[in-house]
Amino acid sequence: MEAEKLFLPFSLLMLHFSSCTSLDSLKTNQTIKEGDVLISKGNNFALGFFSPGSSSNRYLGIWYHKVPEQTVVWVANRNDPIIGSSGFLFVDQYGNLVLYGNDDQKLPVWSTNVSVEENDTCAAQLLDSGNLILVRKRSRKTVWQSFDYPTNILLPGMKLGLDRKLGIDRFLTSWRSADDPGIGDFSLMINPNGSPQIIVYNGTEPISRSPPWPWRSQMGLYESTFVNDPDEIYWVYTVPDDSYLLRIIVDHSGLLKVLTWRESDGQWKDYWKAPVFQCDYYGLCGAYSTCELANLNEFGCACLPGFEPKYPLEWSARDGSGGCVRKRLQTSSFCQHGEGFVKVENVVLPESSAAAWVDMSKSRAACEVECKRNCSCSAYAIIGIPGKNYGCLNWYKELVDIRYDRSNSYDLYVRVDAYELDDTKRKSNDSREKTMQAVLAPSIALSWFLISLFAYLWFKKRAKKGSELQVNSTSTELEYFKLSTVTAATNNFSPANKLGQGGFGSVYKGLLANGKEVAIKRLSRSSGQGTEEFKNEVMVIAMLQHRNLVKLLGYCTQDGEQMLIYEYLPNKSLDSFLFDESRRLLLDWRKRFDIIVGIARGILYLHQDSRLRIIHRDLKCSNILLDADMNPKISDFGMAKIFEGNRTEDRTRRVVGTYGYMPPEYVVFGNFSAKSDVFSFGVMLLEIASGKKNNRFYQQNPPLTLIGYVWELWREDKALEIVDPSLTELYDPRDALKCIQIGLLCVQEDATDRPSMLAVVFMLSNETEIPSPKQPAFLFRKSDNNPDIALDVEDGQCSLNEVTITEIACR
Ligand SMILES: *[C@@H]1O[C@H](CO)[C@@H](O)[C@H](O)[C@H]1NC(C)=O
Ligand SMILES: *[C@@H]1O[C@H](CO)[C@@H](O)[C@H](O)[C@H]1NC(C)=O
Ligand SMILES: *[C@@H]1O[C@H](CO)[C@@H](O)[C@H](O)[C@H]1NC(C)=O
Ligand SMILES: *[C@@H]1O[C@H](CO)[C@@H](O)[C@H](O)[C@H]1NC(C)=O
Ligand SMILES: *[C@@H]1O[C@H](CO)[C@@H](O)[C@H](O)[C@H]1NC(C)=O
Ligand SMILES: *[C@@H]1O[C@H](CO)[C@@H](O)[C@H](O)[C@H]1NC(C)=O
Repeated sequence: MEAEKLFLPFSLLMLHFSSCTSLDSLKTNQTIKEGDVLISKGNNFALGFFSPGSSSNRYLGIWYHKVPEQTVVWVANRNDPIIGSSGFLFVDQYGNLVLYGNDDQKLPVWSTNVSVEENDTCAAQLLDSGNLILVRKRSRKTVWQSFDYPTNILLPGMKLGLDRKLGIDRFLTSWRSADDPGIGDFSLMINPNGSPQIIVYNGTEPISRSPPWPWRSQMGLYESTFVNDPDEIYWVYTVPDDSYLLRIIVDHSGLLKVLTWRESDGQWKDYWKAPVFQCDYYGLCGAYSTCELANLNEFGCACLPGFEPKYPLEWSARDGSGGCVRKRLQTSSFCQHGEGFVKVENVVLPESSAAAWVDMSKSRAACEVECKRNCSCSAYAIIGIPGKNYGCLNWYKELVDIRYDRSNSYDLYVRVDAYELDDTKRKSNDSREKTMQAVLAPSIALSWFLISLFAYLWFKKRAKKGSELQVNSTSTELEYFKLSTVTAATNNFSPANKLGQGGFGSVYKGLLANGKEVAIKRLSRSSGQGTEEFKNEVMVIAMLQHRNLVKLLGYCTQDGEQMLIYEYLPNKSLDSFLFDESRRLLLDWRKRFDIIVGIARGILYLHQDSRLRIIHRDLKCSNILLDADMNPKISDFGMAKIFEGNRTEDRTRRVVGTYGYMPPEYVVFGNFSAKSDVFSFGVMLLEIASGKKNNRFYQQNPPLTLIGYVWELWREDKALEIVDPSLTELYDPRDALKCIQIGLLCVQEDATDRPSMLAVVFMLSNETEIPSPKQPAFLFRKSDNNPDIALDVEDGQCSLNEVTITEIACR
């Protein structure tokens, strides 16, 4: 044991004790020489002479006693090495710790140099924290401690910062090299100006920087405290579980590191270090710019809103150090009326030594007003302060070193001129419209947003080609049919010509004099719609032109009759194929998929591509007609709701629709939106893929709907079992699985979770990531009654029509 080698010439008593305990303190006139060490009580640290690295110079230092690899945490004479082995340390009669190079020297190499009253004495003690203290005997007051004079290492409990009362500034300075503990170029200090920051300097140049105070503690390994009051400003950390060793170091290459000792492999490990990433380097992108973590082939610098690269050529060569300058500087419009601010989200706030704290309780608006008053104020931010709620920070200098970072980030409001302000507003209006649904559904918002965005771009490109729309402006001019013409065409509404009957009237097949076949919907007189209203509605429907919508040719209003004349589709409705044992064989997988996509496009057109926003409200397989080529056409806008302007949602006391196709929010609360149609579409999609009706039991116990049944299979990873067995093996399992997944997404319980039709069309038509569906609505059926009955509920009174409402040209 080194402790036993302690040489204590001035005290027999101490010599006596030294044989059984290790010594941690030094009294007046006691000396430590080469080979002697002080060891802290718990054996954590030792103090003695050492030589760093390959150097033969001797230094007095403190190191970890338990760590085999000599790790020095503090050096007394770092700039004044002792040559040879004659150095000694003792507490002199005036109470100071004094280090001499050899007996002959008159001047000490190093001294604590504190003034102590003459008649008092001091003792030095090495504590288990690694702190060497000098304590006055009588008053037990610490008059000096090594923690106030850090070298390159910050130990737990050591304060980094300023004691304004004592006039002590504690900061780290690197060694010159691994062999030389002399003061090197790099330092770590708290810059107390403005909003305090911890900065690593190379000389006087900052090289990396902590975010401005207040810091959010996020390290699990240690706990840190920051104190900022009139007496002191400091940062300190503690290791809650002192069974492991942790130190913070500024090394001689300028790296700031947090290191931990790993007992298992006997090594110090980097727990954290900086700078590592490009954006860690202070001001890499110059002034008025942001730095975003980019991979090697990308350029992470970007100008703040309202700014442009100062040196465009360098900038395009990926040198961002020149930074950015304000656009339109020559025009005098900047800051005429203070103009405004643009929010830059989730950034580590800029260098803040010149930033001013305005008021610890300012609201964002008040903070903005304060900044707006003075055109020198370039930006402001609202910062959460522990125990004080919020503070307002205004910057009065150029904005430097802004980086994107999810932790320790805030929103920065950057001052811009009037032009930029308008531009930003316009952009945000555009994107708001596009992301409306994303905002409504925060849980899966991002994936929907991305899908919608891709879908939007993709769809716009297609629409430009004109493939989707029947652009024929003259076709909106509707033909007026005289009653006599209609009567003649339908053989006076002969029962033989009747195609179907719905809640709003009957549908007849008609043959016009020119030989053209039409379908005529004759509204029942009880519909009670006035002639003008009827005409208006007709005009609206007439404007809808899409190849997946049934086309309206004309109308007739005469003698109290109200009739709509549509194109006649020789094939029947989709359900007459899908749910018919033999006719379903005509629908192979390819046809079914095309039908699904066609229906989706038709609904999409109604929802957002026509000049109006239309919610159909009664989408079901019997309202999908098939033309001679089996192309699907959506029919029956009898319940359609037309939205004007920006409204996207409505509520009705009169719930109309068909059981099994209506979403829960509509059935229960009467709320409907585009997402109600999405739900109905999802049901249709599952019906088309499975050849089964939703309104049937598919299991007795518990009684599951088709939705419930598909959901069960999906969860068991057996979704393909639902595919219509009449397709035998003739389908693409990946396509089928995708359809089922999209179907399940559409019937999710929460309307906001459901995709938009745009996203649906996009997912159907492209290879893309598709989110996982959450639990759908209506898993169970209560009874097997009225499976196909349309619902018409008003003010809580039910009236059920025997047949689904208003079938046009179906049969
Ligand atoms: C320490 O040494 C000095 C000089 O040798 C002596 O005057 C003084 O009395 C000593 N103090 C103690 C406490 O032994
Ligand atoms: C000790 O402090 C005094 C002033 O307090 C100063 O003049 C002197 O140079 C210091 N001595 C050493 C060795 O630091
Ligand atoms: C220490 O000395 C000062 C004068 O030098 C004296 O006033 C004071 O009482 C002394 N203190 C003690 C505890 O002896
Ligand atoms: C530190 O500054 C010096 C002189 O300006 C420079 O040569 C050196 O590369 C800098 N080192 C780092 C790590 O920034
Ligand atoms: C604007 O702020 C700057 C910097 O703080 C200051 O020097 C100047 O006097 C202020 N101007 C006005 C009008 O308040
Ligand atoms: C953005 O939308 C709002 C409300 O919808 C409107 O008042 C404002 O004028 C729009 N701004 C621009 C620049 O289009």
